[in-house]
Amino acid sequence: MSTSLLLPAEVRSAVQTALGGVPVREDLAWMSWAGTVWRLSGPGGGVFVKRAAHLHDELARLRWLAGRWPVPEVIGLYEGLGDEWLVTRAVDGVPMFDPSVGWPPARVASTFGEILRMLHAAPAKDCPFGVMKPGHVLIHGDYCLPNLLVNNGELSAVVDVGLTGLGNPETDLAAGLWTLQYNYGKGFARTFLAAYGWPPMSDEAIDKLRRKYAR
Ligand SMILES: Nc1ncnc2c1ncn2[C@@H]1O[C@H](COP(=O)(O)OP(=O)(O)O)[C@@H](O)[C@H]1O
Ligand SMILES: [Mg+2]
Repeated sequence: MSTSLLLPAEVRSAVQTALGGVPVREDLAWMSWAGTVWRLSGPGGGVFVKRAAHLHDELARLRWLAGRWPVPEVIGLYEGLGDEWLVTRAVDGVPMFDPSVGWPPARVASTFGEILRMLHAAPAKDCPFGVMKPGHVLIHGDYCLPNLLVNNGELSAVVDVGLTGLGNPETDLAAGLWTLQYNYGKGFARTFLAAYGWPPMSDEAIDKLRRKYAR
């Protein structure tokens, strides 16, 4: 419990409206080079507040993706304290790398590949983001394990969609290879690629693709 989290007044009031009252918990959920994310909860559920310099791209994509991919519901985007603040409704679930999911790494790798195939198969001809070119599909843009939420063994949400749009599927495959190796070490790339349905590649080609994910 804390009352020290400094939120712009507009954000504070949007959160209270969404929660139906004053938050009973305010937890830091995530911090990265790009921004900070808090989870605020009340009796009726929770919301996530993301603070970063630029969040309009993510807002536009969340709105367009609703009904196409499972994404969190947008409560609003606000400006304050020199940054942008995106408030979304909390989706039940934990990031896919969380041990509480209970899957061995090979199972994570295959599910992660199957989910990517499904995301890339979404109809996207009218997508206003990215470039429509032969071979391009609707890509996530930062396809790493923390950006997929799992609840009761099923995908519950895809988050962090600021780079989502039409693009080369290899962009997401590269991120997928990178995040699997980062979390579980080498050895799960082929399971992931096969579950996605990508043609077999040499070890060298897999490593070259993985290195295209520059973070
Ligand atoms: N609406 C939401 N519901 C549930 N979890 C969320 C929600 N929004 C963010 N999260 C959690 O917060 C983490 C960080 O949010 P994210 O948008 O990925 O920030 P970043 O751009 O810093 O990676 C996510 O990995 C996810 O675990
Ligand atoms: Mg993220």
